[in-house]
Amino acid sequence: MLGLIPMTCLKWAFFACFVCSSLGLQTPSQSCDPSDLLALKEFAGNLTNGSIKTSWSINNSVCCLWDGVVCGNEGNNDSVASRVSMLIPPKKGLKGILSRSLGRLDKLRLLDLSCNHFEGVLPAELSNLKQLQVLDLSYNMLTGWVSSVLSGLKMIQSLNISSNSFRGDLLELGGFPNLAVFNDMELG
Ligand SMILES: *[C@@H]1O[C@H](CO)[C@@H](O)[C@H](O)[C@H]1NC(C)=O
Ligand SMILES: *[C@@H]1O[C@H](CO)[C@@H](O)[C@H](O)[C@H]1NC(C)=O
Ligand SMILES: *[C@@H]1O[C@H](CO)[C@@H](O)[C@H](O)[C@H]1NC(C)=O
Ligand SMILES: *[C@@H]1O[C@H](CO)[C@@H](O)[C@H](O)[C@H]1NC(C)=O
Ligand SMILES: *[C@@H]1O[C@H](CO)[C@@H](O)[C@H](O)[C@H]1NC(C)=O
Repeated sequence: MLGLIPMTCLKWAFFACFVCSSLGLQTPSQSCDPSDLLALKEFAGNLTNGSIKTSWSINNSVCCLWDGVVCGNEGNNDSVASRVSMLIPPKKGLKGILSRSLGRLDKLRLLDLSCNHFEGVLPAELSNLKQLQVLDLSYNMLTGWVSSVLSGLKMIQSLNISSNSFRGDLLELGGFPNLAVFNDMELG
């Protein structure tokens, strides 16, 4: 077993800093990819409550400026400049189910939904996130079997699914060639 170190929500900010420096500085872009915009709107539409619901509706179409959304890639690759690469709304009081549309954000490299009130099962579409390197779902109320969904995440390096009500043991799969940090224990 790896990574049994207790982590609290207070540490997410340090973690985000680590991730930003390891993934490279981002070039913000005003407009975002229309399909990513639609996917984010569906994600927000599935929320029953949470701070981003109002803040995201203010700059309605410039999703790369939204709180918790980062677009672009390292380097000067214009073809991905308007694609959402990070979705980071931890501790936003978000309630509701996880939208299937998250699976269409296929340039995502970081998804941090920790410390919210998400419930229900993981949508199978999450396995489409082939470039995802960091996934933090910790401190929510998610249920169901995680193995089949998360086994598609071949690029994953850091995975935190702790403090939910998931079933199944991911480590049995052993299908994560790049995984460096894993946390699935119920730690407080
Ligand atoms: C989840 O685990 C990762 C890896 O151990 C850690 O960096 C992160 O801070 C944890 N998330 C929370 C909310 O504690
Ligand atoms: C989630 O959003 C999708 C797309 O807008 C919608 O079809 C679905 O009914 C929503 N689910 C819930 C539980 O609100
Ligand atoms: C929604 O969240 C706000 C704080 O973000 C809270 O004051 C309000 O009671 C919540 N409403 C529901 C229905 O949970
Ligand atoms: C809306 O966009 C402007 C820049 O165009 C930005 O300064 C402002 O913070 C954004 N507002 C919200 C609520 O995201
Ligand atoms: C830019 O990104 C696209 C899509 O991911 C990729 O096909 C292309 O090879 C990249 N170009 C460079 C120069 O990295």
